[in-house]
Amino acid sequence: MTAQTAGTRAPGAPRLGNARALSCRECGKTSALGPHYACDECFGPLEVIYDFPRLTRADIENGPHSIWRYAPLLPVPRDIASRPTSEPGYTRLIRADGLAAELGMRRLWIKDDSGNPTHSFKDRVVAVALAAATEMGFKVLACPSTGNLANAVAAAAARAGIRSVVMVPANLEEQKILTTAVYGGTFVTVDGTYDDVNRLASELAGEHEDWAFVNVNVRPYYAEGSKTLGFEIAEQLGWRLPDQIVVPIASGAQLVKIDKGFGELAGLGLVEDKPWRVFGAQATGCSPVAEAFGKGWDVVRPVKPSTIAKSLAIGNPADGPYVLDVVRRTGGAVADVSDPEIVDSIRLLARTQGVFGETAGGVTVGVLRKLLDSGQLDPDAETVIINSGDGLKTLDAVAPAVSVPAAIKPTVAAFQAAGFDGTDI
Ligand SMILES: Cc1ncc(COP(=O)(O)O)c(C=O)c1O
Ligand SMILES: [Zn+2]
Repeated sequence: MTAQTAGTRAPGAPRLGNARALSCRECGKTSALGPHYACDECFGPLEVIYDFPRLTRADIENGPHSIWRYAPLLPVPRDIASRPTSEPGYTRLIRADGLAAELGMRRLWIKDDSGNPTHSFKDRVVAVALAAATEMGFKVLACPSTGNLANAVAAAAARAGIRSVVMVPANLEEQKILTTAVYGGTFVTVDGTYDDVNRLASELAGEHEDWAFVNVNVRPYYAEGSKTLGFEIAEQLGWRLPDQIVVPIASGAQLVKIDKGFGELAGLGLVEDKPWRVFGAQATGCSPVAEAFGKGWDVVRPVKPSTIAKSLAIGNPADGPYVLDVVRRTGGAVADVSDPEIVDSIRLLARTQGVFGETAGGVTVGVLRKLLDSGQLDPDAETVIINSGDGLKTLDAVAPAVSVPAAIKPTVAAFQAAGFDGTDI
């Protein structure tokens, strides 16, 4: 089928704003917009391509306080902002002077995506997937998940009034289990790893053609949601791209799409085109992309994950090779940190910035520190790190490392006897 242009869309084709077609990331073959995710020529993954309109900074600045301010750059219907969605995005970008001082850096920022409706960046990708899936006629929103995506899908489906089917490994953190179950959709816990759950989801997607598995059969649309992290960072920096960015990796889609977002802003003339370097962060217990980067491989060899960073525990990352492309093209790196370093880094971020990140945030801060020590990150360059999820969802990771003093009687004498009157607290 030939690509359709915005003005000559076939009757019945989904109305997805300025999205024009799907294009194979391997062979470049284009196909019509629809619920497809693999190239019919070479089985390569598909991604959305657009006919972008002329767009000014003011057009965006006058838009809603959510990712929908960037709707012209996403595969969503033009009226998306007036539909019932979770309205994610527009999260804070914090100037991280405390952490920067500790690490000997000059200009460090934290993009704190724990401020999203279900407290992780996954609300962004799910909102875009849901908008596209609804437009394509799907009636059920589904996913395999390492935890945060489960929260986001269950909540977004509840908000939109449609059914959800969410599947996770049974050994997830209790907080992520409860914060999914509360929304009342179909919730399946599976005795297996995320990669097992993902395989099951792929099989089910073949059997239930009316189910939109956000990260499987509508993945090209879903993944575009992460571009909004790149868009927001640039806008919040005053329409400027950072010099360096550190991003956690599970499937790798977030990292690849932040880079794509920066490129699109530069291509549209909304920011000055300048070099930026993209760095990836993994936990040592699940570091297939860091291993491939370190060994100079083009392919990513799957691993069996074992780490407290369960949200990043994808042993066979779909976007792994594309992460390697982005990181090598921009002059970045991929590194990993151990579980004790993750806990240390969560506490460092909390102590220096008052931000409580989940284990993925600990991975990112840990890798930031490691790559500064190794000289691969420039301490003088403007740097952004992503805190992609909320520490309240991974309490068990820090519980053993944080001490809570015993309760005292409500008297000044007891307060003094316990040593709280000292000047060293
Ligand atoms: C908190 C958090 N950060 C980062 C990621 C990585 O996202 P991606 O799969 O796009 O690499 C995930 C994925 O589940 C996550 O839950
Ligand atoms: Zn192809």
